[in-house]
Amino acid sequence: MHIAIDGPAASGKSSVAKALADHFGFLYLETGRMYRAVALGLSRGIPLDQLRLEVTEAGRFLLNGEDVTDELHTPALDRGSSEVATRRDVRERMVSLQREIAEDRDVVMEGRDIGTVVLPNAEVKIFLDAAPEVRAERRARQRHQRDIEPILEDLRRRDRRDRTRAISPLNPASDAHIIDTSEKALTEVILAAIAWVKERSGKGDTPV
Ligand code: DC
Repeated sequence: MHIAIDGPAASGKSSVAKALADHFGFLYLETGRMYRAVALGLSRGIPLDQLRLEVTEAGRFLLNGEDVTDELHTPALDRGSSEVATRRDVRERMVSLQREIAEDRDVVMEGRDIGTVVLPNAEVKIFLDAAPEVRAERRARQRHQRDIEPILEDLRRRDRRDRTRAISPLNPASDAHIIDTSEKALTEVILAAIAWVKERSGKGDTPV
């Protein structure tokens, strides 16, 4: 089974996708980290055609053999990844790698274009959204920052770029289940997502 989770930055995608993968015993793939790893490689001066990106079974991200998993969530790569994500050559490579990883296996894949482009036949599609102010507050808490204003400004800029880019813009798939998480606690969203997966799969408890 394929579960696609899409939504803007800090909408709760990673927490929900991880919880679903744990609950159902599926592989979890955070595709944003793939774009971040590419941005890191390019910032180090490695040309795209010499970038080798691998995702291990344990969920580690290797860039030309080096484990960069824990270096990817920085403000510079927030911006850098959003920029490289507008490039057709980058997206084509990422999409084919993502499809390869999902082939013949149960996966929860999280990103911006999973339900619309990467896995259009996913059995379950969830689109998470939240007000920009709420997302900026969440991001500030995650990164132990007090000043919300610059984070909010950065989120708005990224949102604009992600939603308006020519190729695979951030958009809910027409058959996605949309959840606004602004006023909801994370556990509430996770329980709703688990219930939705079970309903879609037409079965009771695990395995789906
Ligand atoms: O989910 P994230 O914030 O880590 O993603 C980083 C950037 O990568 C984001 O600005 C948009 C881009 N991205 C994308 O275009 N498509 C995806 N499937 C995942 C991320």
